[in-house]
Amino acid sequence: MVRGFHNPLPRHYQMNDVDLVFQSYGRSCNQPAFYQTFYDIFMGKSADIRAKFVNTEMSAQHGLLRGGIMWLIMHARGMSDSKIRALGKSHSRGQLDIHPSHYALWLDALMETLYKHDPEFNLQLELAWRRTLEPSIDKIISMYDQH
Ligand code: HEM
Repeated sequence: MVRGFHNPLPRHYQMNDVDLVFQSYGRSCNQPAFYQTFYDIFMGKSADIRAKFVNTEMSAQHGLLRGGIMWLIMHARGMSDSKIRALGKSHSRGQLDIHPSHYALWLDALMETLYKHDPEFNLQLELAWRRTLEPSIDKIISMYDQH
């Protein structure tokens, strides 16, 4: 900080979106119930989504999602987009065939899960999460027809 400069805001108001998101995920991602809650909510949103997971070993999927969310956050923090492009490829029409319309439900389910598991969650944090993840999700969606 520049000497003599008085910043009247408490420290946490100075954090940017991606720092807030990183800390929020840190408060949540170690709770095993977090991923169970997420998939309960996400699958509750549509029969098409439930159908995609009928043959999935869900306990393994919990660990994969944990890493996948971290890739989205790290991409927003400036990491290369190679993991995001890998997700774009695996979720594209020719592979898992995840329709672009399902990502808004995925993000809504994540927000609802965070309200349940991050004790500090609020509307400001929800908007920070959405702003942070949207560019990576848009990239994944843009690859739907490319593979
Ligand atoms: C941006 C959001 C998402 C992230 C970060 C994510 C993350 C992942 C990861 C890491 C995997 C493991 C395979 C791989 O690495 O590609 C996976 C598999 C999968 N994802 Fe996603 N995913 C997202 C969105 C979705 C959506 C919207 C659906 C819609 C139903 C979906 C359905 C699946 C399915 C069906 C599998 C394969 C499960 C199996 O192996 O049986 N994902 N996802």
